[in-house]
Amino acid sequence: MGAAAAYLHIRPVPQLPGFAARVDGLDFSAPLSAEVKAELHRALNQFGLLTIEPHTLTPAQHIDLASAFGDIAPGAFFPRLPGHDEVEVIRSDREHPPELNVWHSDVTWRRDFPTGTVIQLIELPESGGNTAWACGRKAFQALSEGMKTYLRGLHATHSWTGSLVEDALRASGEEAMVNAVRRFQPVSHPLVRRHPETGDEVLFANEAFTRRIDGVPMRESRAMLEFLREWMVQPEFVYSHRWRAGALAVWDNRSTQHHAAADYWPQTRLLHRVTFRSQAESAA
Ligand SMILES: [Fe+2]
Repeated sequence: MGAAAAYLHIRPVPQLPGFAARVDGLDFSAPLSAEVKAELHRALNQFGLLTIEPHTLTPAQHIDLASAFGDIAPGAFFPRLPGHDEVEVIRSDREHPPELNVWHSDVTWRRDFPTGTVIQLIELPESGGNTAWACGRKAFQALSEGMKTYLRGLHATHSWTGSLVEDALRASGEEAMVNAVRRFQPVSHPLVRRHPETGDEVLFANEAFTRRIDGVPMRESRAMLEFLREWMVQPEFVYSHRWRAGALAVWDNRSTQHHAAADYWPQTRLLHRVTFRSQAESAA
């Protein structure tokens, strides 16, 4: 996808070179047209992360926006918005301290993990609560050729066990835990994924869910994952977003990871999340 490709209906404004665009020019007063949705999808592939300034959206509009990028995905274990099973409600407050302050891509412990996510910030702390995203494409490109060659072709095991997801399941009771153990066995993903829509090579490992590199000695795996953890979140690859209430973000979960700062407790931060799975990914 050439950086010069024209957009006729939306205005993506990159916040970093080739990564993280604020999308101006969206009008939610009428249903999004097929042309607008196609340009949003193209912009997401090009920039990996789209932010959208505050809008008042109904849950149905939030779901419709997500449908621009793929089929609506099942999400994870968060509570749902009454009447809208597609919308997960993620609330942190005095009784529920924030715990998403670990770098992760969403739900990579599923084989058919969501290829992207649309969130809207509903309630914000007075300050803090930023979300940062790191670009796995830039992180891969910056490696030496020798390291790229080493990493290509390796796979890594991802699991929810030992993560914040396990903590949440434990709180839901033994049955939820046992069901999850049965349903969601560890899965293996390529460590360098080729993005099915752009052809870009992308580093795909995250601190929260990537447990080990398959088929190499354990100490090698441990040291390499620690190197990648540190490498992938260098400032050159990271955009940190300061939210306004009602603002939205859409990210490509295959080519980015994110971190929600937990600096605002005991204030409240509330967001709605809809995940999606791209048709290109399902066909790949
Ligand atoms: Fe997340």
